[in-house]
Amino acid sequence: MAHTAQDLATFCKKKGFMYPSSEIYGGIAGLYDYGHLGTKLKHNFEKLWREFFLGLDDNFVEIEAANIMHENVFKASGHLENFSDPLVSCSKCDFSERADHFIQSKTKTRHEGLSPEQLTVLIEKNKLVCPKCQSKLKPVSVMNMMFPVQLGTGKGYRGFLRPETAQSPFVNFKLQYELQRKKLPLGLAVIGKAYRNEISPRNFVLRQREFTQAELQIFFNPAKINEHKYFDLIKNYKIRTLLVSDRKEDQVVERSAQELLKSGLPQFYIYHLAKIQEFYFEVLKIPKEKLRFYQLDEKEKAFYNKYHFDIEIELQEFGFTEVGGLHYRTNHDLSGHEKVSGQKMEIFDEESASKFIPHVLELSFGVDRNVYSLLDLNYDDDKQRGNVVLHLPSRLAPFFCAVFPLVKNKPELVAKAEEVYSQLKKHFSCLYDEAASVGRRYARADEMGIKYCITVDFESLEDHAVTVRDRDSTQQERVKLSRLLERLSELHSH
Ligand code: GAP
Repeated sequence: MAHTAQDLATFCKKKGFMYPSSEIYGGIAGLYDYGHLGTKLKHNFEKLWREFFLGLDDNFVEIEAANIMHENVFKASGHLENFSDPLVSCSKCDFSERADHFIQSKTKTRHEGLSPEQLTVLIEKNKLVCPKCQSKLKPVSVMNMMFPVQLGTGKGYRGFLRPETAQSPFVNFKLQYELQRKKLPLGLAVIGKAYRNEISPRNFVLRQREFTQAELQIFFNPAKINEHKYFDLIKNYKIRTLLVSDRKEDQVVERSAQELLKSGLPQFYIYHLAKIQEFYFEVLKIPKEKLRFYQLDEKEKAFYNKYHFDIEIELQEFGFTEVGGLHYRTNHDLSGHEKVSGQKMEIFDEESASKFIPHVLELSFGVDRNVYSLLDLNYDDDKQRGNVVLHLPSRLAPFFCAVFPLVKNKPELVAKAEEVYSQLKKHFSCLYDEAASVGRRYARADEMGIKYCITVDFESLEDHAVTVRDRDSTQQERVKLSRLLERLSELHSH
């Protein structure tokens, strides 16, 4: 059954996945809180992300860093100068919106990367006026998206909330490189908050002013960009790409890693495209046709990138939507930090006996956008059952299993169910529920995405077995208590 983004937002609030922040005061656009279930789902995503991407290489490690950073960080990175969005506003009323998004909503064509002058021309050409009061719109201007922070008292000191987690590994690079025994490639990952003063926050958690990113910066020797030690293992792996040259047909093309080399992309880059796709297919279990890598052209690429593909997932209402990206940032950031801080970022690489400033490949993911996508893809308003079912993979679901006594007014059943629960919760994320009818509890469990419900019934007292009900098929199997842990472990690994 098709659902709208609004259905999903309503559901997320009703079940406490996520909802507007400071809501008792009317909320603030672009800020959201995660409730119990949303937090568990988000943490599960982050755990799987860590396991998978840090597992790619023993020299990939995680750090945690301050969210407020020195002003000079953003002088060096170029964010003070370049990290701005085009702003269109009304000459009469208080209407304002991001200019490229505004034009796109009216003309149904993408206009990323155009200059303010070009966007102004498009507004005039398409005779666009203020949607609120029909007055003339002002020429498009630019607005820096970072939040300044005044620190300390008196004259104080100006910092900025980081607009991307990426800058933390860059300023930590020199120290971490020494600590990690001067070995490349070195991966520094951060899962943390990023802040952007979005002109028009919208689409629920997809465009917020405070959000979570999971980013891995891989520092490597640029002379080795055309190799990867495991490239042979993925050379026949088909990757779902939409290159700039595919745009006319607007078709995703499945190309093997080897074929992609012909498009001029280096091995080191393609290898990581393949791994990202594997993460989505094998770990998050996204249907294949829902994912694509969308190549950005010269105008659309972020100012720091040489190669830039967006990772896109097809959402029910918004179509293919960016949830992350694979960015070849060259030595843009480290060179910038060398210039502004005066600290040498050049290293001597013993393996190649050469000196250079490492280049960076960035694997960037918006955690909230991924969480939203997982909910969107797995949400099923099942009219036959009369409730929503979240078909989340076991390792993502907020709870893997739940234990119910068939009824709550039979002390022997409750005692048995509690015993089962206390055993299982040592091994899995598990919920205990004894309120309302079993049917009602199944429905509640479906809505939380709980994969297996284990019911202790009267027979259990005789045969020492329980029923295990599968969320997706609703099939029940009878499992001996002595085998329950083993059986659930089998099911969990699927
Ligand atoms: N370090 C690179 C970087 O920040 P980006 O494309 O600007 O690149 C990375 O952001 C990801 O962060 C995006 O693909 C998206 O998933 C997420 N993201 C960006 N802006 C966002 C916003 N306002 N709200 C929620 N997620 C956002």
